[in-house]
Amino acid sequence: MADEGDHAPRARICIDFGTAMSKACLCLDPSMPLDAGVRPIPIGAVSGAEHALFSPSVLFVDGGRLFFGPAALERAAAGIEGGRDPLLSFKTVLGARDLDQAMATRLPPSVDPTGTFRQRDALVLYLAYLDQLISDALARVAGLPFGIGRARRRYTSPVWRPGSGQDRVFEGVFNEAAAVSQRLNRLLLAPDGVSIAQCRDALDKARANPGDGRLDTGVFEPHAAAAASLAYTNEPAYIVMVIDMGAGTTDIAAFEFDERNNPPALTEIKEARQCSGLAGDEIDRILIGVLAKKRGAPNDPRFLRTARLAARDFKREFFANGNATFKDGWRTIAIRAGDLTGDPQFQRYLNALGQTFITSIAAVAARARATQVRMVDVVLAGGGANLPFLPQLVRAAAEQAAPGLAMRAGPLSPSSSLYGSVDEYFADVFPQIAISVGGSLVEMLDTRAAAA
Ligand SMILES: Nc1ncnc2c1ncn2[C@@H]1O[C@H](COP(=O)(O)OP(=O)(O)OP(=O)(O)O)[C@@H](O)[C@H]1O
Ligand SMILES: [Mg+2]
Repeated sequence: MADEGDHAPRARICIDFGTAMSKACLCLDPSMPLDAGVRPIPIGAVSGAEHALFSPSVLFVDGGRLFFGPAALERAAAGIEGGRDPLLSFKTVLGARDLDQAMATRLPPSVDPTGTFRQRDALVLYLAYLDQLISDALARVAGLPFGIGRARRRYTSPVWRPGSGQDRVFEGVFNEAAAVSQRLNRLLLAPDGVSIAQCRDALDKARANPGDGRLDTGVFEPHAAAAASLAYTNEPAYIVMVIDMGAGTTDIAAFEFDERNNPPALTEIKEARQCSGLAGDEIDRILIGVLAKKRGAPNDPRFLRTARLAARDFKREFFANGNATFKDGWRTIAIRAGDLTGDPQFQRYLNALGQTFITSIAAVAARARATQVRMVDVVLAGGGANLPFLPQLVRAAAEQAAPGLAMRAGPLSPSSSLYGSVDEYFADVFPQIAISVGGSLVEMLDTRAAAA
């Protein structure tokens, strides 16, 4: 029987389950030209999400059934009156100091009022759902080798602790997810959810009899972003600093790039590494605060819940146009750029984020001086790379922390001439999918070396 080994032995699929959005990317072979070898997987097209290349990382229990992705968001929107919450961050689990303890914690009642599921169950079920999305999505991509769905899996992680046993724990999770995916199969994609009893049964059977999750490795997220940035650039700088602003966290890390090795080595400048909670969700909270103030009655829980569910769309419109209108039942609330820039909470946010940048840039500048590197690249990754104020905040921080250091700052982009057929659809969201793209490209040994 043919298997993946016959057709694409070096193929791997990298999954990035972010706080807000999950992404997945297939790399057929890291030595192939990028436009032929790297294929972001359209999981959002299968789940019915807004964009084909990402799908909301959401899970929701309602009426005795479990819902995933866009279906979960819809149920949550319908349940606004009930004090329920669809948001679930796997990042707190992935990044937890005590992984076993985090996995054993029950889901909050706002997500699962039945108290049935623990974080580990949620992760297994969510990964099984992603596995189904991935197989369906791969079938829609033309020209892939037979059996590519069996390529080895990677996941990106906001922390990386070599030798911590983290990968063994995740191997177990991936293996159980494979068994659940096989058992529940298409049911996981049903818009009307899966019954809790079926989920429980599948979880118990998977625990007793796990499948083969084909886990290759975890990849440190900033390392994946740096790899994506180097792979897709025409003129590599010798030092790359990555600012990955997602929904839950802004992760900063810097790497030295040594192209004398093959594959080129990335070594981390440890002093520059930081993780801050000042990310996309925090901007949502600030915008909701501004809206609530304008509305009067700033503590109305129903309004706050409605606003929270709509905040990401509202924010996108606001930063794209410099103003936006929020619909609250029969009334509308308009806010303009000045409402945000004049808001004390937003000013505190900018100051604190700027200070974080200053600390990392100072560490990078010291290393650049020591190694006589003249040009540093600062690449913005994650959905936050769309925020128009970020490049300016980086430049202001650089002027303070490293006057005279030449620096290029901007969103990560697939600008390489190697990548001949960049379509706009892909280029537009590149910063947001870059972690999964880089994670699929990066070689395992590199990852270990840089984080060791
Ligand atoms: N065009 C845009 N303008 C402003 N913000 C945006 C835009 N597009 C996405 N975002 C924000 O980016 C965030 C999602 O980015 P991303 O997918 O990188 O996060 P994540 O990987 O899910 O989160 P994390 O890395 O923290 O776990 C959300 O806060 C979203 O609102
Ligand atoms: Mg992310």
